[in-house]
Parts: sequence; C-alpha cells; structure tokens
Amino acid sequence: MEQPLELEPRFGREEIAAAVGRVAAAIAADHPDTRPLLVGILKGSFVFLADLVRALTIPVEVDFVRARSYGKGTTSSGAVEITKDLESDLTGRHVVVVEDIEDTGLTMDVVVRRIEAGHPASVKRCALLVREGSEPPDYYGMWVGPGFVVGYGIDYAERFRELPEIYAIKGT
Ligand code: PRP
Repeated sequence: MEQPLELEPRFGREEIAAAVGRVAAAIAADHPDTRPLLVGILKGSFVFLADLVRALTIPVEVDFVRARSYGKGTTSSGAVEITKDLESDLTGRHVVVVEDIEDTGLTMDVVVRRIEAGHPASVKRCALLVREGSEPPDYYGMWVGPGFVVGYGIDYAERFRELPEIYAIKGT
C-alpha cells in the first residue's frame, strides 16, 4: 500500500509558462544563427523540454541522456549513473543541456563532462528550477526553496510526474 503524501503548491501553470518563455527567449537570443542541440536529461526534463522547444523561435535539434542518482529516496545517492547515452555527433555543435531541477548540480556536471568529451563548439546549462543557495546555470527559470518538489516531470519514487503544476511534498 502506498503511503499517503500531502502536496503543497509551489508553482502554478502560469508561473511555469512565464519561466519557460523567459528561458526560451534567452536561449534564442544567444543562438541566432546556429541550430543548437538541446540535450534533455531523462527522465525529469521531458515535460520542460517539450514546452521549451515549442516556446523557442529558432530551429533546434533534440537528444536525450538518461542520468539518475536519487532512486526512490529524497536525497541524492551521490553517484550519477548514465544508463542511456547520446546519439548525436557533438563535434562543433552548440549544446544546451536541459534539466528539470538543479539541486546539488552533480547530475549536470556529469552530463556536461560527458558532452565536452565529444568536442562541441559550446556547452550551456539550463534548468527550470534551481535550489536556493546553488550556483545558477547559464539559463534558469525559477529559484526553489527547501522541500522535495514534484510535478511537471519531476517525481518522487516515480509518482507525480504527470501533474501540470509543481508542488513540494509536505514534511520534506
Ligand atoms: C533528479 C532531477 C535532476 C537531478 C538533480 O533526477 O531530475 O536530474 O535529480 O539533482 P542534482 O542536481 O543533485 O544532481 P533523478 O536522479 O531523480 O532521476 P529522474 O530525472 O529520472 O527522476
């Protein structure tokens, strides 16, 4: 039997859409004449990336890498495992790595290092949410305070990814 969890609203649909729009405008402004490769970190980024590409006013390509560290808990295990690698040739490409949330930044660091080994022209970091007190990435949507957040692609033990808004789990 799954334990009942109480969710507290953090960001609503309009706030999220506005943040996605700001991020898209910044990425488009920095890449006027290139076709950047957006690399989504699965699974959490799939909703953000889907909205982001549709908010962009420039052509892009999309690829995915699967990195996970949290398992079923609410704290990082500290070890980031890449279980699905990129399929694109990165040589000379302008790459933007897309995360749902940057917490410790460990996942982003591991993926960026992996991409840099493929000799891209540039690598930029993008996250919808950044934990307060962390170093912000090149592009980000909103700061988020303490609490384990879920929804808009982000899970707790694979639950809540389908919620259109972002919530914090009460008591975390
Ligand atoms: C979560 C989240 C980010 C990462 C952020 O992924 O989606 O990818 O952790 O944490 P960090 O900045 O401390 O590394 P998770 O490992 O839970 O996998 P998932 O995206 O498949 O849920």
